[in-house]
Amino acid sequence: MKFDRILILDFGSQYTQLIARRIRELGVYSEIQPFNFPVEKIKEFGPRGIILSGGPSSVLDEGAPVVDRSIFDLGIPVLGICYGMQLITRLLGGEVEYSPAREYGKSEMIILSNEDLFSGFSLNERITVWMSHSDRIKSVPEGFEVIAKSENSPVAAFRHRERKIFGVQFHPEVVHTPRGKEILSNFVFKICGAEANWNMSSFIEEESKRIRETVGKSNVILALSGGVDSSVVAALLNRSIGSQLYAVFVNNGLLRKGEPEQVIETFENRMKLKNFIYVDASEEFLDALRGVVDPEEKRKIIGRKFIEVFEREAKKIENVEFLAQGTLYPDVIESVSFKGPSAKIKSHHNVGGLPEKMNLKLIEPLRELFKDEVRKLGLELGLPEEIIYRHPFPGPGLAIRIIGEVTEEDLNILREADDIVTEEIKAAGLYRKVWQAFAVLLPVRSVGVMGDERTYERVAAIRVVESKDGMTADWSKLSYDLLERISNRIVNTVKGINRVVYDITSKPPSTIEWE
Ligand code: XMP
Repeated sequence: MKFDRILILDFGSQYTQLIARRIRELGVYSEIQPFNFPVEKIKEFGPRGIILSGGPSSVLDEGAPVVDRSIFDLGIPVLGICYGMQLITRLLGGEVEYSPAREYGKSEMIILSNEDLFSGFSLNERITVWMSHSDRIKSVPEGFEVIAKSENSPVAAFRHRERKIFGVQFHPEVVHTPRGKEILSNFVFKICGAEANWNMSSFIEEESKRIRETVGKSNVILALSGGVDSSVVAALLNRSIGSQLYAVFVNNGLLRKGEPEQVIETFENRMKLKNFIYVDASEEFLDALRGVVDPEEKRKIIGRKFIEVFEREAKKIENVEFLAQGTLYPDVIESVSFKGPSAKIKSHHNVGGLPEKMNLKLIEPLRELFKDEVRKLGLELGLPEEIIYRHPFPGPGLAIRIIGEVTEEDLNILREADDIVTEEIKAAGLYRKVWQAFAVLLPVRSVGVMGDERTYERVAAIRVVESKDGMTADWSKLSYDLLERISNRIVNTVKGINRVVYDITSKPPSTIEWE
């Protein structure tokens, strides 16, 4: 089965990803390509409809991005959003003008036609829409008619009278346009005639077939970290190619309490991977880190060591032609959007450089999925919730949460403290609300008193942040009671820590990790 699909041509709007998400939420597969995606490729892709996104440029500027005019002659319905609408106007002979005032924010729009794009709305109904533009449409191209207006935009939406070409000045993809999803749904189903046949089980079926075809009889190797992405890749490849998958899980000695056991239990016993390879390289990593205090130096050593260990294991496996990676859609779009198709695709932290070095071809079965889709896929494949909803954990692990030199003893202290933080955050029902919650071990000793005795021990800092993507983050306003419980439990049960502080800085100016 081939899914019905909608193609989104990207002109650089910050909302382009949202358009794709909304349409996928409707059960229709959608993909973003740069604005200059060749017409031949569009035909090959075979979309039911094309959406031209918004963008930061003005269509009146020299060198502003344009699409090939011939896309309007393919007989495929087109919807232009904001910049996309102005571009349609310009290309098909209408007039766009600079407007002195930028229209930004909520606006009231009046529906003038409720036949297709606004089907389900009443004539003259006023709806709230989100605007963000400065240029305006002065006159619509020949053959077009206005189907909605607002106070500042006499042409808030238009359509061609006979051909299926539509434009909206507002952004139906953002939540500030409360009925935006209905409008997109009208375009996708009523106008394009797409069918909602995109869901996780059809994805598994289709993708498994594709993987089998790509891989043939050769073997695939995967660096399994136990994080969400590599875990889902492992589960998917296990389903599609079974014994041709070799999943290598390297214990670098810098993992959290109980983590190696959990990963082994999940993949060996629960998912029953045929070739699950567990490598305990803790000692090697700790040896390499001895005496090192600089954070970037630690990262480099851990990265290099990882490649060394992984390569050593890979050499033992015969007929390996592919390396599987958990690259997600946002990474792919970040690199293909607006900047053009030639931009480089981000490589994964831990295995960067590996494919070239080992002469392997890449397979990235999640490269079309958003994070929440990856989670759904993982659940459908039978992965446990503890893995699916796990907080992000940095590749260098606890090594960058022990400030200064990393020792076995400090790792053990930190593991205990960190475990208490996780337990308490979970018990308070906050685990899925916060982005990350962990302890950091400081190289500072402070004086305390326990019973009748003076103590002189280490300080732990607790870091709990809320964030959408890790790029910016707010420190979490945990209740004093919860903070007190965490502090009491740590000081009372973790030998080596006698003081706990809470990190109340956001990112920026601080980072999430301390190193
Ligand atoms: P920062 O500390 O830069 O972290 O605010 C942002 C996010 O990235 C994670 N992080 C890393 N992940 N290797 C990784 O794989 C690293 O070296 C690394 N450093 C930070 C961090 O946990 C947070 O989610």
